[in-house]
Formats: sequence, structure tokens, C-alpha cells
Amino acid sequence: MASVQLDSSLVYVILFVLSSILIVRSLRSSRKDGLRPHLPSPPALPVLGNLHQLGRGHHHRKLQALARQYGPLFLLRLGSMRALVVSSAAMAEEVLKTQDHIFCGRPQQYTARAISYDFRDIGFSSYGDRCQCKSMLGGTDPGTVCEMLDEVTVLLETIAVSDLFPQFGWVDWLTGLDSRIETTARKLDAIFERVLQEHEKSSENGIDTTSKAILWAMAELVKNPNEMEKVQAQVRQVVGAQGVLEQQLGKMSRLQAAMKEAMRLHPPVPLVIPHEVIRDTKLHVYHIPAQTRVIVNAWAIGRDSESWENAEEFLRERFMHNNIFDYSGKDIRFIPFSAGRRGCPGIAFATRLAELALANLLYHFNWELPEGQDIESFEVVESNGLSPSLKSDLILVPKLMQA
Ligand code: HEM
Repeated sequence: MASVQLDSSLVYVILFVLSSILIVRSLRSSRKDGLRPHLPSPPALPVLGNLHQLGRGHHHRKLQALARQYGPLFLLRLGSMRALVVSSAAMAEEVLKTQDHIFCGRPQQYTARAISYDFRDIGFSSYGDRCQCKSMLGGTDPGTVCEMLDEVTVLLETIAVSDLFPQFGWVDWLTGLDSRIETTARKLDAIFERVLQEHEKSSENGIDTTSKAILWAMAELVKNPNEMEKVQAQVRQVVGAQGVLEQQLGKMSRLQAAMKEAMRLHPPVPLVIPHEVIRDTKLHVYHIPAQTRVIVNAWAIGRDSESWENAEEFLRERFMHNNIFDYSGKDIRFIPFSAGRRGCPGIAFATRLAELALANLLYHFNWELPEGQDIESFEVVESNGLSPSLKSDLILVPKLMQA
């Protein structure tokens, strides 16, 4: 009993000391800031900041709700870390284009550091030499890769105590996080080893985000059977005796528009990958200090009713005959691959692969929901996760097209 009391007293003392330090620091910085306007920010708890408002999963939805309250640019406090949340096309234009050279850093997330060998991969490295030598994974067993990507995703979603309170890093050892990271890093090592060996033999690989893009497009087309019919009719008209060929994709404008519309509604990486400000700057009227983490909510930007009519509806037509919407982020309202110098280098590969796969699925088969399930009850809702999938597995019945 005595030891329980001692423990809880100790916790109170630690909380008191931490809160005092944070209060003194914020008083000091507010004095330093003088009359600078402050970024809007939801009320924060001592020590935890706004962590409790994020909860587990669906962060893009929670951040969209907060943006509706606090505006397209607001600040979150996650422990001792500051994160700027960007939720409108106008602000994303500033961050990913106009001031791209300042917003192009990557935060040194604890789990990412460990599984990427001190940020030696492309996605997590700070902007510099390593970013300009871009390559891709070679082929390996897709099941193993998917399993591995799931594990990596779960780890990347884990907010480590070391990230929030670096001085309490030992807690990550105590909770077993360090050992999970070590095991995952070892497994990744084995995969990379095999990838290197197999790279020359095979080029047949895709990756998780690409398969998610195909999945969402299929789900939306099944949910919208009229669209499915129109897209399929064009695919079958274009494809000849040799089957689907890559060079025919340009003639499948309906399929390409459907893929874009699916990615507008369901960007496979809804919050892109966090960026970091590499030196002090000014954004809109606000001072943004170096090392502020930046979260761009591409999901919310793709569904912003200021930019899109009937934003929540799947309307393929909006991408027909409209060249301004390519995948490079030329028009910042549509950024499933983000934009600027940290934008995805895999766009051409991923979109070709996704379009080819979708064209094959639609050319060879007609697709139906399993018996007993109707369109009305078929929900296109996402699961939790950094790269969400459909909440329930997409189970469809293929019917071979009659020649
Ligand atoms: C539909 C499929 C894909 C989507 C939606 C996607 C999306 C993204 C997004 C949103 C980012 C973060 C950009 C930012 O932080 O501003 C990213 C980064 C990246 N992607 Fe993709 N991606 C896809 C497929 C691929 C493929 C197939 C490859 C490799 C062949 C790839 C390689 C990369 C790399 C290396 C980065 C890090 C770039 C950097 O930090 O400089 N991606 N991707």
C-alpha cells in the first residue's frame, strides 16, 4: 500500500515538474514572440497537449473536424512537439510550392529512425543528397511484403515517448517498443537482402499504396454501377485481340478519370508524410519556427467544398476533359501524391500500374456483389491506419466476359 502511495506521489511530482517547465518555457517564448499573432490552436492539456484529441486512427477525419473549427492553418501540441496542420488548397500551395524549399524537411520520428537505419532511406531522410538518388523496391513475395508493410505502418503510427519527451526515452524500452522495432528492422533487413538478390530477375512488384488505389477505384465503381458500365464499355471498345496494352491507356479517358476521382476521395496516404520546417519562416501572418512539424491533410483538401462541387460524391465527370488535374499537384486541390520537392517520385510507375490493373479487371470480368448483399448496404468506408484500406474486405464475384 505504502509503495502504491509512493508511486502515485512520484507521478504527481513528475507531472508537476514537467508542467512547470513547459509553462516557464511557453511564458519565455511568448515574451520573445512579443506581439506576433498566434496560430489558432485547440485548447491543450498540460504535458499531453492535444494528443487526447487525436485518439487512435482516422486522424485525417479528426484533423478535418478541427480545421472546420480552427481554420485551414492551426497548431497542435503533441507532447513537447509542435505540429502545424494544413487543410486548405491555398495554404498547401504556400507549403508545398511557394515555400517548398523551407518546408521540405522530414521530422526525425523515433520509430522511423530505427527502421530506416538512421533515416538512410528516401522517404524519411532530410532534404539533401539522399533524396536525389531515388530508387524502388525490387520484387519479392507479395504476401511477405504486405505483412511487412503492415508492421512498419503500425510502428510508424506509434507515437513513441521518445518523440514527445526525449528525456523519458527509457519508457519505450520498458513498454517493449524498442524490441518490436528491433524485430521489425531485422525482418526488413532479410527482405531487403532478398530484394537485392531478386531485383535483376523480376520487375513485377507493386506496393501497398498502389494496390489501395486499385481497391478504392473498384469499390467506388461497384458502388456506382452506371459509372462501372460506362468505364467498362470504353475499355472493351479500346482493347483489341491482344488484350490490354499499356499504350492503349491514353484512350481510356473514362477509366483514367475514375481512377483520379477515387484518389481524390481516398488518397492512399491521406496525411502525406509529415514534413518539417528547416528554418524560421512566415506563413500567412504567422511566424513558423524551424523544426515545426507540418501535417498536410490531402484527404481534407480533396473533399473541401470550397474547391469541389458535391465534394463527397463520386463524380468521374469532373476529371474528364480537364488537363489541369494531373497527378503532379499542378493544381493543388488534387494532391494524392503530394507536390513539390518531397512529392512522390513513383507517380508515373504507380499510376500506370494501377490503370493497367484496373483495365484488366474491367476488361476480362463483370463484377457483382456476393449474393445477399445489395448496393445500398455496400459501404465504401475506410479502416484505421496511415494508409487506410476498406473497413471490410472487398469481396466481389467475377463473371468472365463472354467473347
Ligand atoms: C498510388 C500509389 C502511391 C501514392 C498515392 C503515393 C503517395 C505518396 C505521398 C503522399 C508521399 C509523401 C509526399 C510528401 O511528403 O509530400 C510519397 C512519398 C514517396 N513515395 Fe509514393 N506513393 C505511391 C506509390 C509510390 C511508388 C510505386 C513508389 C516507388 C516506386 C513511391 C515512392 C515514394 C518515395 C521514395 C517517397 C518519398 C519521397 C521523399 O521523401 O522525397 N511511391 N508517396
